[in-house]
Amino acid sequence: MNEVTTLSDSSQTTDNMSIRDLKSVSLKTRRLNIRPLQKKDCNALFKVYSDFKAMKYWNHSPYETINQAQLHIEKVLNSIENNTSLKLAMVQHSSDELIGTINLFNIHPESRRAEIGYILSSSFWGQGLMSEALSAFIDYCFETLRLNRLEAEINPENEASSRLLKKCGFKVEGLLKERWIVDGKVTDSEIYGLLSSNIGIKT
Ligand SMILES: CC(C)(COP(=O)(O)OP(=O)(O)OC[C@H]1O[C@@H](n2cnc3c(N)ncnc32)[C@H](O)[C@@H]1OP(=O)(O)O)[C@@H](O)C(=O)NCCC(=O)NCCS
Repeated sequence: MNEVTTLSDSSQTTDNMSIRDLKSVSLKTRRLNIRPLQKKDCNALFKVYSDFKAMKYWNHSPYETINQAQLHIEKVLNSIENNTSLKLAMVQHSSDELIGTINLFNIHPESRRAEIGYILSSSFWGQGLMSEALSAFIDYCFETLRLNRLEAEINPENEASSRLLKKCGFKVEGLLKERWIVDGKVTDSEIYGLLSSNIGIKT
């Protein structure tokens, strides 16, 4: 589950977190470049957000029009500008076309914690791409942003997401009953947490 969220108490830069780094993030992994979302990503973002398989456990229905992707990008760019949340495009080295996104939201600088979300086009599943992207992003969150805690909230039936989080070191911390109603379907949320100390990083 994830969406861009603007929190009134999250908009200030604090000594505890280099939140200004949100605008300049650029990560490189073996197969991927990970960079902030841009206006030119609109068509590719629409492809991912209208992918029924990829959107099965998302917190809203799949997109039906390109306009929804345009509005989403505007919202994201605003939130990056205000340092309140971040959405990154995952692209392969061979092309700058977005194939998935990773985002950081519900940022609480004073507590040095934030929530993550991610989605990958279903045609790229099962190749270890999100594990590769997420481990680099987790390192960035702890080492550069100096976060102390990352959280993730997923549908308990989302096995791929659960496996991915556990592979990256996250632990299940609890279950919130009937937390979401999307298109009339009521679902629970499993909460996952990862502390910087869990993976030996001192922040
Ligand atoms: C979750 C998701 C990002 C995984 O991406 P991916 O690149 O295919 O994942 P990886 O290949 O890196 O695999 C990560 C782990 O999950 C496992 N996994 C991947 N797909 C799986 C599936 N369909 N069922 C069970 N396990 C699966 C892999 O085996 C791997 O674990 P392992 O190394 O211990 O075997 C992708 O399935 C997706 O975009 N899902 C839709 C969006 C979503 O649900 N996001 C989460 C909501 S916030």
